[in-house]
Amino acid sequence: MSQELFEAARDAMKFAHAPYSKFPVGAAIRADDGKIYTGANIENLSFPQGWCAEPTAIGCMIMAGGKKIVEMAVIAEKLALCPPCGGCRQKIAEFADAKTPIYLCDAVGVQKTMTMEELLPFSFKTEILG
Ligand code: THU
Repeated sequence: MSQELFEAARDAMKFAHAPYSKFPVGAAIRADDGKIYTGANIENLSFPQGWCAEPTAIGCMIMAGGKKIVEMAVIAEKLALCPPCGGCRQKIAEFADAKTPIYLCDAVGVQKTMTMEELLPFSFKTEILG
C-alpha cells in the first residue's frame, strides 16, 4: 500500500511549480474514502505566497469530499528523505490521527515511516475552539 502512495507522490512531484527554489516536492494522501489525492509545491514570484506540496494534496482531498488522512507519503527530489515542514505538520495533523503513518521517501521508495504524533509531539489541542 505504501508503495502505491510512494509512486503517486513521486508522480505528483513532476507537477511542482518550483522555478525559484528548484526544489520539487510531491505528496500523496490515501483518504478515508479509499482514494488517493496528490499535490506538489506551487511557488510564486512573491516568494511568501508560494505553498508546499502537502497543502495542495489536502486541498484536493477536501474539495473531493475526503475527510481524513489514512496515510500519506512525501518526497523531495533533492533529499534522501523529506520531513514535512513545521507548518505542514500542523496542517496534516488537522486531518490525521496520532497513529497515522507518514512515509518519508526518496526517489527509490519509502525510507522512513513516522506517525503523526512522532512528527508533531505535544501539538496544539483544545476543546475550546470546537
Ligand atoms: N516544501 C514543501 O513542499 N513541503 C515541505 O514540507 C517542505 C518544503 C517546498 C516549499 C518550497 O517550494 C520548497 O519546498 C523549498 O522550500
